[in-house]
Amino acid sequence: MTNADFERIVDTSDEWIVSRTGIRERRISDADTFSSDMAVVACRNALEMGGCSNDEVEMIIIGTVTPDYRLPSTACVVQEKMGLPNAAAMDVVAACAGFLNGLSIASSFIESKTYSRILVVGVEKLSAITNYKDRNTCVLFGDAAGAALLAPTENGTGVLSTFLKSNGSLREWLWSSTGGTVHPYTPEFEYDGTDKIMMAGSDVFKVAVREMARAADNVLQEAGLKPDDITMVIPHQANIRIIEALAKRLHVGMDRVYLNIEEYGNTSAASVPLALDQANRQGKIKPGDFILMVAFGGGLTWGAALVKW
Ligand code: ACO
Repeated sequence: MTNADFERIVDTSDEWIVSRTGIRERRISDADTFSSDMAVVACRNALEMGGCSNDEVEMIIIGTVTPDYRLPSTACVVQEKMGLPNAAAMDVVAACAGFLNGLSIASSFIESKTYSRILVVGVEKLSAITNYKDRNTCVLFGDAAGAALLAPTENGTGVLSTFLKSNGSLREWLWSSTGGTVHPYTPEFEYDGTDKIMMAGSDVFKVAVREMARAADNVLQEAGLKPDDITMVIPHQANIRIIEALAKRLHVGMDRVYLNIEEYGNTSAASVPLALDQANRQGKIKPGDFILMVAFGGGLTWGAALVKW
């Protein structure tokens, strides 16, 4: 969906969207393509790249706020669709920080030698929970999936440090209030947009910059590294202005920040693994590089991870 498509359905303009967000296009999945379907494609690519058979996968963790069903987890659906006979499966609900939460959990399981092959996925069909009558939010979101395969390493590469945090008291800044047990759908429910994403954008903006910078400082400190050591920052792609403000706070030039927001918009949990995969396939990441991933989203939730590639 292009900005021109949005000019036809809400009171907006290409100029406003590009200057305020950096977004020009987003990908919208077909009506009969679900989060599990997109996750399967990403997982197959990850296993192929990692030279890992389906039988070897011992766990799959999926970050998503757009599950196929309320019950069971999308991870269980993907376990069946992929054919992962030896895998435990769980979803992590942490909005845009979902992949980094999953990565942190997986990395702890690897370090403790509980499992040795774990698929970590971020996937969202945000088009299903986007209110296309609300210009404040609808221009922002897209659908996508990304996956990573985690395995033990011997040479000091891999996840060096992670940091996760939340503030549930600010949950109303970015949420869908109906459809859960507090406000369940009833026969009388009249559509008012509250089952779709609602966001206090400018409030989220300020906290996002501050807390992502703190999260980044934290993982750098834990790994004994400085901003100059970072080869590439892979930030959650929510807004170009948030990313630029974050880079400034970190004293990292934009030439060391990976961007794909222009083409994909905000894909929540899928955003970081999608960008990581693209940066890798484009040859922008080399063995030994230090990669900083950082994300912020509904909950509120946020986190960072530092990886030696
Ligand atoms: N087209 C034209 N005008 C618009 C649009 C639009 N699509 N959307 C909002 N506006 C208007 C508003 O109505 C407002 O008008 P007013 O001044 O007459 O009231 C004006 O533009 C400015 O609105 P703001 O909300 O102050 O705009 P801001 O510069 O903050 O940009 C945005 C809004 C893009 C949402 C920004 O605040 C943002 O990116 N916030 C953070 C998003 C984020 O990081 N979310 C977390 C992850 S998402 C997740 O977890 C699923």
